[in-house]
Amino acid sequence: MSKFIIQGGKKLEGKVKISGSKNAALPIIAATILNKGKTTLYNVPKIQDVSTMFEILKEIGGKVTKKNNKVIIDTSNIHKFKIPETLMRQMRSSVILAGALLGRYKEARFSYPGGCDIGSRPIDLHLKAFEKLGIELEEEYGEISCHAERIVGNEINLDFPSVGATENIILTSVMCEGKTIITNAAKEPEIEDLSKMLNKMGAKIKGAGTDKIEIIGVKKLAETSYNIMPDRIEAGTYLVIGAVSGGNITITNINLEHIKPVVDKLEEANCKLEKGKNFIKIIAPRRLKGVDIKTMPYPGFPTDMQAIFGAMLSTAKGTSIITENIFENRYKYLQELSRMGVKAKIEGRTAIIKGTKKIQGANVIATDLRGGAAMIVEALYAKGITQIDNIHYILRGYENIEDKLKKIGANITLEK
Ligand code: EPZ
Repeated sequence: MSKFIIQGGKKLEGKVKISGSKNAALPIIAATILNKGKTTLYNVPKIQDVSTMFEILKEIGGKVTKKNNKVIIDTSNIHKFKIPETLMRQMRSSVILAGALLGRYKEARFSYPGGCDIGSRPIDLHLKAFEKLGIELEEEYGEISCHAERIVGNEINLDFPSVGATENIILTSVMCEGKTIITNAAKEPEIEDLSKMLNKMGAKIKGAGTDKIEIIGVKKLAETSYNIMPDRIEAGTYLVIGAVSGGNITITNINLEHIKPVVDKLEEANCKLEKGKNFIKIIAPRRLKGVDIKTMPYPGFPTDMQAIFGAMLSTAKGTSIITENIFENRYKYLQELSRMGVKAKIEGRTAIIKGTKKIQGANVIATDLRGGAAMIVEALYAKGITQIDNIHYILRGYENIEDKLKKIGANITLEK
């Protein structure tokens, strides 16, 4: 398994250009199935999860051509409606393809994505929504077959503002009969990005980014090209790296609105931030101040930044309390970080982190994507050398992370 070797304690300075958003790219790639033809995408991040999505598209008959900074996806010849189980297991979020296949063919078969490192991650909200749209579900040995003679718009209220369920309803209903209204919809910016791209293809979606989304079914969607929004979690990750490394880092190609909750918390922790139109510069304080974090659906503090902040707060002055309200098991990274001297106590959904300067390099193993990023943050702060194993988790969601870190002065090497 590949690993990162990081020599910590170095002041990091320089510029980081933020890549396209993983969590916008994945549903947008699924949405290309809805148009029987070509879609050209720009700013697609070169990360493992996107490669997996491309693998699935090719497996079911799609064609993916990469040219310089664009990707051309041709879904004219898709002829299979079963998402391969191995690829489903590699990436839970491939369940989003079900909505796209249903939207175009009224047919989809997939296996239960299964839980993962951060929680059970059920898909009951997706399945209940499919049924409300007139789709019949059959489940056998962990495989779900979806089929509908007609898909008819309906009113769907989500028990929880699930990002994936909101996206799947949009994908299933953009070309169905009648109108669909989603209430208690997720408001994440990635849903707005998906909706902007679909509307460019001729869809009629209103209200994306709010908790009420209205979709009026259209007959067909046309070819288009689309530029994917910047990754707000990658942006937050590099801001935190700037905060712990005592230096100053400028991140470019970002949407400031999307990272407001994270920026507010960094300012509360004594960081100085200079904001421009589409860049932000962080100047780290001599010592960070502990702050309390509660993860919430957007526009609250993002759960995907929880682990990364947990690492940062472990080096701050004072005690910080983190409450993880979205996933039930998103503290596994703290066990690993305790090997480096992190002092944390977990009580249910709460983690109490006592800040300390005594953080030493150690051998740790990445537990999941954002937990792995947290280990990089800790390692860049620590005195001495840290080895991070299982970095495939990290490479799922961070484009060129080794090069980007080297460019701002980090001493990091990837060992195959
Ligand atoms: C998306 O996951 C993101 N992934 C996650 O990012 C992110 O953490 C999450 O939204 C929340 O913001 C992608 O966009 C590819 P949810 P998703 O459905 O759609 C429960 C990362 O690190 N739930 O909003 O799976 C669920 O168990 C990843 O980039 C149900 O109970 O998240 C969880 O507790 C990790 N039933 C909560 O809702 C359902 O049918 C939020 O899940 C669906 C979800």
